[in-house]
Amino acid sequence: MIEAVDIIYGLAWGDEGKGKIANAMAKHYDFVCRWNGGPNAGHTVYVNGKKYKTHIIPSGIFAGKKCIIGPGCVININKMLEELSMLTMAGYNIDLVKVHPNAHIITEDHIAYDKEHLSHLGTTAQGIAPCYSDKMLRRGKRAIDILESNWIWDGELSGKVLCEGAQSVWLDIDHGDYPYVTSSTTMPYGACSLGFSPKKVRRIIGVAKAYDTKSGVDPLFPTTLWNDPVLNKIIELGGEYGSTTGRKRLVNWLNLDKLKKAILLSGCTEVIINKYDILEQVNEYKVIHGNELQTFSNFRDMKRYVMDALLMASGSDVHEVTWSGNPEKI
Ligand code: IMP
Ligand code: MG
Repeated sequence: MIEAVDIIYGLAWGDEGKGKIANAMAKHYDFVCRWNGGPNAGHTVYVNGKKYKTHIIPSGIFAGKKCIIGPGCVININKMLEELSMLTMAGYNIDLVKVHPNAHIITEDHIAYDKEHLSHLGTTAQGIAPCYSDKMLRRGKRAIDILESNWIWDGELSGKVLCEGAQSVWLDIDHGDYPYVTSSTTMPYGACSLGFSPKKVRRIIGVAKAYDTKSGVDPLFPTTLWNDPVLNKIIELGGEYGSTTGRKRLVNWLNLDKLKKAILLSGCTEVIINKYDILEQVNEYKVIHGNELQTFSNFRDMKRYVMDALLMASGSDVHEVTWSGNPEKI
């Protein structure tokens, strides 16, 4: 029987530091699950001072928890095996990782199509959209057709379950800034595709960042913003380079209008805002609100302003907003 489900997901354009939060929480759960995406995701986590990058394996692996890759995920088998072998060498028990039989498999053709036809959208070139397209056309290959049976999950979720989102609200296929989106459901309700009732959901934890970044292409993030020396410094200090692609991320000040909308659309119970310490390092505090740039003279003023705006916008749904530093420093 499932006791409770908690969901972690991104409130912006990805790269908010969800991996850090999931990794810190994983020890309290029986299962840690991914419900969407595939090798396009890049989760950076620090365990005992060591940096790990995962793309498809849930971060429960570091806490010795059962890790499920759900039916809404897409898998590059070679990449998954590479990641598993990295984890084995680091001493983690990869027998905990299981793939839902209905997860779809990314082929070389998917990757070739992505590279040839979708680069104008700034995709990660991992074959994500073509793989989900073949799934919809009912001609895709699934894990059950291809993977060795020891990797296939035939159990049921039970106890406490943590669901770890990949990508974020503004990359969601239905609600994101289409066509600059990914091909899956990044909204927290997507977690229910793992196979549980929405009634089981307890905490819905939305993760944001103290400034905005976007990997790839997006008219909301003009590249001219890189000319702003402060924003450019934020990129360097925050290490804002794609963990899958290595691309320099687009950057802008925190857009509170978008963040309020993301919170309302997705319905979280808690918000965590990461990397505020990067703003402290450049000692500049700005947000976009009501379509205008607001400037604060210190972090305390910005924090109070953001908290008030978020709590007022969300009514009583959000009961907590926490600020957290750069995971590089843990
Ligand atoms: P795709 O998912 O490779 O099709 O890429 C579509 C868009 O989503 C591009 O703008 C990517 O940069 C972005 N994207 C996909 N996965 C991630 C992620 O994990 N973090 C941040 N951006 C992502
Ligand atoms: Mg990432």
